[in-house]
Amino acid sequence: MERELQVTGASGGVGSVAVAILAARGHEVWAATGKPDEEARLRALGAAGLVERDEVTAESPRPLESARWAGAVDTVGAPTLPYVLRTLRLGAAVASSGNAGGAVLETTVLPFILRGVSLLGMDSANLPIDQRRALWTRIATDLRPAGLDEDGGLGVSEVGLDGLEGAFDAILAAGARGRWVVRVTD
Ligand SMILES: NC(=O)c1ccc[n+]([C@@H]2O[C@H](COP(=O)([O-])OP(=O)(O)OC[C@H]3O[C@@H](n4cnc5c(N)ncnc54)[C@H](OP(=O)(O)O)[C@@H]3O)[C@@H](O)[C@H]2O)c1
Repeated sequence: MERELQVTGASGGVGSVAVAILAARGHEVWAATGKPDEEARLRALGAAGLVERDEVTAESPRPLESARWAGAVDTVGAPTLPYVLRTLRLGAAVASSGNAGGAVLETTVLPFILRGVSLLGMDSANLPIDQRRALWTRIATDLRPAGLDEDGGLGVSEVGLDGLEGAFDAILAAGARGRWVVRVTD
């Protein structure tokens, strides 16, 4: 129980890959998701179990809660990042990569000054090309995600241009599962 990691927005594109990479590295990864029907796919990617979205979006009057997570990747922002900060273990870190649920961060300084936790920013858009190439090489080798070769593993599905509107609606309604590949020709 000591080394549990959490990934939020786990059924989405970034979340699915984060689950798969961390699990392939031998970590015990818990997938926070609002989609219980994604359990089989997330477990196939290596998730040890699911955490319900209600739990990770609940507001709390307490600035610190029972410390559980040895690390986390948060793709949702508000309101899950405050939950993650409240529940990180001593000295643990969360990588903040997204704002699928909102951009406003309401928290306190107590996780930082009483548990020494770290909030790490992630920004792939401005990463210099040499660092990207180094990372892509690692993603193809030692960081290769589990499930990459299996049908449906990372949740990749194809959509034509006529299906984009439905895909956008699903993304906005928190319904994204893995990644869509857009077919631009018939
Ligand atoms: N920092 C960077 O470099 C970087 C790079 C790529 C993407 N991003 C950002 O990371 C975030 C995730 O990207 P993605 O491509 O994984 O998105 P996505 O495929 O649309 O997945 C987002 C997931 O977040 C969860 N979610 C929870 N509350 C939500 C809400 N209110 N609205 C929408 N989704 C909600 C859902 O998963 P569950 O049902 O499983 O909770 C959803 O499937 C986005 O904000 C994106 O802009 C950042």
